[in-house]
Amino acid sequence: MIKNKKIVAISGSIREGSSNTNILKALIAFIPEGIDYSIYNGIKELPHFNPDIDRTEPPAVVKDFRKMLDESHALIICTPEYAKSVPGVLKNALEWLVSSAELYKKPVAVITASPSISGGDKAHESLLLTLGMLDTTVVKNGSLLIPSVGTKFNDDATLKDESTKKALTSLINSLLDEINN
Ligand SMILES: Cc1cc2nc3c(=O)[nH]c(=O)nc-3n(C[C@H](O)[C@H](O)[C@H](O)COP(=O)(O)O)c2cc1C
Repeated sequence: MIKNKKIVAISGSIREGSSNTNILKALIAFIPEGIDYSIYNGIKELPHFNPDIDRTEPPAVVKDFRKMLDESHALIICTPEYAKSVPGVLKNALEWLVSSAELYKKPVAVITASPSISGGDKAHESLLLTLGMLDTTVVKNGSLLIPSVGTKFNDDATLKDESTKKALTSLINSLLDEINN
């Protein structure tokens, strides 16, 4: 059994009832005992990235955000596509990590989920570019697009789609293999 490993998950949607956040909640069922899995919901509190304040004294929320990621062993991002890219609130959070490098070589899994049949492919592509710039390690089989996301859930926001469950299991297993090495 893997022990003492922390996985942080971030949703690119700060919307109440977000399908992306619901996917991260559904992931709990596929994570083995002994893994500390938490969904960080603080990205909406981060100020707009500004190199000037980063150089002097970054705000406490930024310091806390960085510390939490520094202490984690892996990251999962699940995001919608907004205007053919990632939501600004998520991009802003990632910009705070460019100079501080908490994600350097960190194993990452990337999910985009969209009501469209594209599964948010443009956001996915854009996010992978940003994560490449941050020098993260996007794990093998750790990249998943979920199209028609509304059809995958029951009315109570639990996941019902078997192929999505299978894909999420594979994604988690890839991430666990990486952090277990
Ligand atoms: C401002 C805005 C822009 C959007 N742009 C796109 C888009 O470019 N591509 C897409 O597939 N969906 C787009 N959508 C639809 C979102 O994918 C959809 O609202 C999704 O459910 C949001 O994810 P959430 O349920 O996790 O909040 C957009 C939605 C909003 C509000």
